[in-house]
Amino acid sequence: MTDNTVTEDAIAERVALGPLNRWWPIVSSWMVTDTPLGLTRLGEKIALWRDKDGSVHCIEDRCPHRGARLSMGWNLGDRLACWYHGVEVGADGVVKDVPAIAECPMIGEKCIKSYPVFEHMGGIFAWFGDELHEEADKFDMPEEFESDEWSAMLCTAHWKCSWTYAVDNVMDPMHGAYLHAVSHSMAEGDREAKMQIDKTNTGFIFGKSGQRDVNFDWIEWGDTGSFWLRVSPLPYRKEAGPGGNFGIIGFVTPIDAENCRVFFWRTRKVSGWQRDAWKFMYRHKLETLHWDVLEQDRVILEGMDPDARDKEFLYQHDTGLARTRRHVEQEAKDQLENVAANGTKQAAQAAE
Ligand code: FES
Ligand SMILES: [Fe+2]
Repeated sequence: MTDNTVTEDAIAERVALGPLNRWWPIVSSWMVTDTPLGLTRLGEKIALWRDKDGSVHCIEDRCPHRGARLSMGWNLGDRLACWYHGVEVGADGVVKDVPAIAECPMIGEKCIKSYPVFEHMGGIFAWFGDELHEEADKFDMPEEFESDEWSAMLCTAHWKCSWTYAVDNVMDPMHGAYLHAVSHSMAEGDREAKMQIDKTNTGFIFGKSGQRDVNFDWIEWGDTGSFWLRVSPLPYRKEAGPGGNFGIIGFVTPIDAENCRVFFWRTRKVSGWQRDAWKFMYRHKLETLHWDVLEQDRVILEGMDPDARDKEFLYQHDTGLARTRRHVEQEAKDQLENVAANGTKQAAQAAE
C-alpha cells in the first residue's frame, strides 16, 4: 500500500496561495495592453500581453534560457522575446526561436507554463491548473455575468492581507452594521441578528434570519469553476437612477500569502438606455462612495495580524465563514491528494 496523504503544511500552503484547478480574475482589462505586463497571482509570476487583434495571452514570466522575466522583453504578437538574449517564447509556452545561435535544441520545446485566459465584463480571468489539469474546465458564471439584463462594473484593489481574510470579510454580513455604520448604503438595519445557512446547488447562502434587503443581509458563496461571492442586493435611493436593487459579485484572488486583489463587480438589473444612465450615474456620483466603504474593509483587514486565525474566538455569526474555510481546505486537500496519487501510480508503472 502506498500513502497518498499530503501533509497539513502542504494543505495550508495551498490554501494560502489559493486552490488550483479554477478560474481566477487576475486584472482589469484596461491594464493589459501591447506592452507586456508582469504580475504575481497565486504565488506564480505571470506575463500578459495583447496581440494585434487585441487577444490576451498569458504565460509564466520566466525565460527558459536563464530565467529573466519575459514581461521585461518585447511583444512580437504571438510570442514574447526575452530582453536578455532574445529567446522567443510563444503564447503556448513553446520556444519559437533562439536568434543568438544557429541551431538550438530548445526550439520547439514547451519549456514554460501557459495559462488559458478569457476576458469578460472588463476583467481578465486565468485558469490555474495543476499538472493533471492544464486544460481549463468550464466556469459556470453567476447569472449577472451572463444575462443581457444585467449591467456590471468592476472595482478592483490591492489589499495587503491574505485572500482568506478578504473572503472571511465578505462571508460576514454582520460587519455591515458596525464597520460600515457610517456609510451611504449600510446605515440601516439591525445591529443584532441571528444567522442561518441555506444550501444552494452551487454552495450556500448565509444570512440574517428575518431581515432582507435592508442592509448587507445575506451573502452567497459559489464554487462553479471559480470561487465567487454574491452580496445581497441593496435597495437604492431614488436619486441613484433607474434599475432594480444593487448587488455585488465578488472574487478575491491571492497574489501571494500576504497580499490579494479584490474584484467587486457592482451589478444592477438594468438594460437599454437605462443602462447608460445608470453607468453615468455610477461613475459620477456613486463610485467614490463605494470606494469609501471598501477602504473601511481594507483598513480593518490590513490591521489584523497574519496569525489572527490562531487566536480567534468565533461565535454564531461566523458559521458562514467557517463553512467557506472548510470548503476551501477540502478542495485544496483533494487536489493535492489527486496529484500525489497520480505520482504514485506513475512510479508504480515505471517500476513494472
Ligand atoms: S535569459 Fe532570456 S534569453 Fe537569456
Ligand atoms: Fe465590508
